[in-house]
Amino acid sequence: MDAIRTEALTKHYRVGFWRPRPYVALDALTLEVRQGEVFGFLGPNGAGKTTTLKLLMQLIYPTSGRAEILGRPVGDVAVRRRIGYLPENPYFYDYLTAEELLDYFASLFGYAAAERRRRVASLLDEVGIGAERRLQLRKFSKGMLQRVGIAQAILNDPEVVFFDEPMSGLDPLGRREVRQLILRLRDRGGTVFFSSHVLSDAETLCSRVAILAEGRLVASGHLSNLLAFQVRGWELVVTGLTEAALERATTLGHIARATPLGAQHYALELPITVAPDGVLSELTACGARLVSLTPVRETLEDYFVRQVADAPRERGLGTGT
Ligand SMILES: Nc1ncnc2c1ncn2[C@@H]1O[C@H](COP(=O)(O)OP(=O)(O)O)[C@@H](O)[C@H]1O
Ligand SMILES: [Mg+2]
Repeated sequence: MDAIRTEALTKHYRVGFWRPRPYVALDALTLEVRQGEVFGFLGPNGAGKTTTLKLLMQLIYPTSGRAEILGRPVGDVAVRRRIGYLPENPYFYDYLTAEELLDYFASLFGYAAAERRRRVASLLDEVGIGAERRLQLRKFSKGMLQRVGIAQAILNDPEVVFFDEPMSGLDPLGRREVRQLILRLRDRGGTVFFSSHVLSDAETLCSRVAILAEGRLVASGHLSNLLAFQVRGWELVVTGLTEAALERATTLGHIARATPLGAQHYALELPITVAPDGVLSELTACGARLVSLTPVRETLEDYFVRQVADAPRERGLGTGT
């Protein structure tokens, strides 16, 4: 049984006041997410990610198509207890403290007082706001509210969690903490389906991704297998590199471009045809030291720009008037 399945899931919004016309927010999305998977749902702003999550949560209804969670149609009451959801812009009653809010949600799930206290305390620590548990939410930053939202989403030990842009509003440290939390959820056997417009959020986290642009699925699979994101070369940063050694490596065709970063400190671009370890040992033999080695691949942003440029289209359906 899959954790999530959608079949030609489609959503049209009606836009325009005087001449309402359908706008295709999601166009026949077919997707399968397996249990125990961390699945990245990627796409630029306006791609249809939030629309998809809302359809899965039954906050809105599809124009056509179907969706299932844990083998049951979305909206099945028994399934609702087994899932968690972080909305794109979680909004909470400002005058509650983080602790009171989570305690309230825990009571909705029917946990008894002692269990609620235990659960809420451990969740607040897990999302890194244990110290602020008695602070009213109106004093929380966007990043802290995001953490409250995440705590709320995993309060009931859900089997499948839906996170809409869980890293948004977080600084690099916060992003890393959320990444680690997602991996912990996976290690406990959970399925995590999260949306993001940032490729790097997915790179270190996901078994598979789906890429959505303008309401359509444009690619899906393992990120490393998606053609567009295959490594196109290497960037090698070294220090202690003498000009003589650099010149020799360049003449041998091992280096496509050298950007000086400081004295004897360079960022070197290696063509994909050259093995980086060979070049590295050649350079270190001449006294250079490795600072970093990074694969160069297309970014999600570049990919989107190319997708959209390749297939410009109107998202309306035609009015028929
Ligand atoms: N209630 C609505 N009415 C009309 N258009 C909408 C509505 N909600 C979203 N849209 C449009 O549908 C498209 C997809 O939106 P959304 O699913 O929020 O994208 P994403 O989450 O990927 O940024 C956007 O162009 C958005 O403007
Ligand atoms: Mg969104």
